[in-house]
Amino acid sequence: MKKIEDLNMEGKKVLIRCDFNVPIKNGRIIDDTRIKESLKTIHYCIDHHAKIILFSHLGRIKEEEDLKKNTLLPVSKRLSKLLDKKVIFIEETRGKKLEKAIEELQEGEIILVQNTRYEDLDGKKESNNDEELGKYWASLGDLFINDAFGTIHRSHASNVGIASHIESATGFLVEKELNVLSSLNSCEKPFIVILGGAKINDKIGVIEKLVTKADYILIGGGMAFTFLQSEGYNVGASIVDYDRIDFCTKILKKYSSKILLPVDVNVTTEYNNDSLNKVKEITEIAENEMGLDIGDRTIEIYQNYLKDAKTVLWNGPLGVYEFEKYKNGTKKIMKFLVDHNIRTILGGGDIVAAASLMKMKDKVYHASTGGGATLEYLEEKKLPGLEIIK
Ligand code: 3PG
Repeated sequence: MKKIEDLNMEGKKVLIRCDFNVPIKNGRIIDDTRIKESLKTIHYCIDHHAKIILFSHLGRIKEEEDLKKNTLLPVSKRLSKLLDKKVIFIEETRGKKLEKAIEELQEGEIILVQNTRYEDLDGKKESNNDEELGKYWASLGDLFINDAFGTIHRSHASNVGIASHIESATGFLVEKELNVLSSLNSCEKPFIVILGGAKINDKIGVIEKLVTKADYILIGGGMAFTFLQSEGYNVGASIVDYDRIDFCTKILKKYSSKILLPVDVNVTTEYNNDSLNKVKEITEIAENEMGLDIGDRTIEIYQNYLKDAKTVLWNGPLGVYEFEKYKNGTKKIMKFLVDHNIRTILGGGDIVAAASLMKMKDKVYHASTGGGATLEYLEEKKLPGLEIIK
């Protein structure tokens, strides 16, 4: 697979697909990690005298109303600040204005094209990898770099489409993410996986793959209750995916000593931060109670396993960390990993957001910029954005 350093880009028009899909509230960027992580590739292209044209999507565009709130204008401003350099923002995804700007672009200069998903208003052209659109965008440049790791599992016109037509390579961020994730196949052991999040359905493939590689899987979050239910516990009003009970029964039977479940949980009767809560043993959950976090005894047990770990992969928070009362499990386990300097890889949007909120994101070994992309990688699925470059 071609890498950025294999390209001869001097004086060439280099199209770069970034993932600038960042959280924005009232026009303000809440977390600019993904923009910062793209800088290495952009700097390299500046230093190698390329003419740089950046593409990214932002959010999802289903109707006219989505356009304004998903403009990449705030991203172009932040990028310009981070680079300390002018970024020419073109508010269109195609047409004369864009073509003229590219024609006039000098070496080391940068254009950011409007949100590629603006094209989705017209028959989902970007998201469905419309042949004509990919060909058109490719015609605007000489070379293509895919550095959008977060979007590598999508088959879009702006990644797969462009790469089908011109010489293409991966960027530094994609390389870094792939190196970290692939290192898990031969990582130092004990290797422990922490899995949380609300829905078990999204994690079936990941559990099936990781259970054979990891020494232990520690379960928390909403998904724990489907496992507990499958073991015959009464989980009250907790979230349960009844279609996955069978899966849980089978995998627990096969890997009973590897998969650990909570022994106590923090329960309440309403899904908010205000209702009364209490930590209870999992044998004591009442009909009207739902578990929103793991309890102290579970935290202690999990820490006991984790203290010997050499590698930890963590996907999905262990409780509803957005609520003050239910972030305890996620926070204590995260702090434990950081304090004990355990090589920890955070994979998935929610756990990275939790780490960021708890001010520990920069203290872990690696926080991936990919959510769905990381999961699909771990499931060993083929990633279209990579396959096309291969
Ligand atoms: C992400 O945030 O996971 C990526 O940017 C992909 O976005 P999508 O899920 O809207 O395709």
